[in-house]
Amino acid sequence: MGEKMRIDKFISNMGFGSRKEIKEYIKKKKITVNGEIIKSGDMYIDTDDKIYCCGKKVEYEKYIYIMMNKPSGYVSANTDSKEKTVFDLISNEYRKKDLFVAGRLDKDTEGFLIITNNGKFAHNMLSPKKHVNKTYLVKSQGGEITNEDIIRFKNGITIDDGYTCKPAIIEIKNNGEISESLLTISEGKFHQVKRMFEAIGKKVIYLKRVKIGNLELDNNIPLGKFKIMNEYDIKLIGADKE
Ligand code: URA
Repeated sequence: MGEKMRIDKFISNMGFGSRKEIKEYIKKKKITVNGEIIKSGDMYIDTDDKIYCCGKKVEYEKYIYIMMNKPSGYVSANTDSKEKTVFDLISNEYRKKDLFVAGRLDKDTEGFLIITNNGKFAHNMLSPKKHVNKTYLVKSQGGEITNEDIIRFKNGITIDDGYTCKPAIIEIKNNGEISESLLTISEGKFHQVKRMFEAIGKKVIYLKRVKIGNLELDNNIPLGKFKIMNEYDIKLIGADKE
């Protein structure tokens, strides 16, 4: 036995169209359940039933994981009264599944954002116990990053509110008045990267998340676009490890 669900909701959630579109398909006799044409969208199905929509099998996938290349200017929230949110960038067919952002990025931060409906996955991804690393490309202003700075990051730098961060690895790409580096951290405190750089006397002028766990942001996704992650991608995140 699978789960019970309204047929129109179920088919819509599996990415076959909006509830309204599914109702149209029903009217046009394009949906079958266990070989029978169905007549109404309010009937309940079992997710183990054999369901076809427009000749295609509707496979049940409980969870969805979206990899977005977030642009600057969007907030990581489901709704906002003033700001554009990352959900404004998600096409309708994927909007229906109790989605939320797992691991927010600031409005002005770009890059790898995961949107999912799997609460346990999100919890694990963010839990310090699971050590899921997040890597950021950072452009900072305020002079060269010194060896001493690198050691401070490695030993756990103390930020403005007195919190001592977990060890972080910084790899310098370009050092100068404006520097470029890759910073890997295993936590996600509010404005963490910006505050860590402040602690070494630098200002972050550009921030992009490029990797979560062992999974890199797919270079083929333009800013503001997304793809659905597959099982292999999800494994690479490492949120399921013991
Ligand atoms: N650290 C920050 O300061 N901002 C982000 O968006 C992510 C990490």
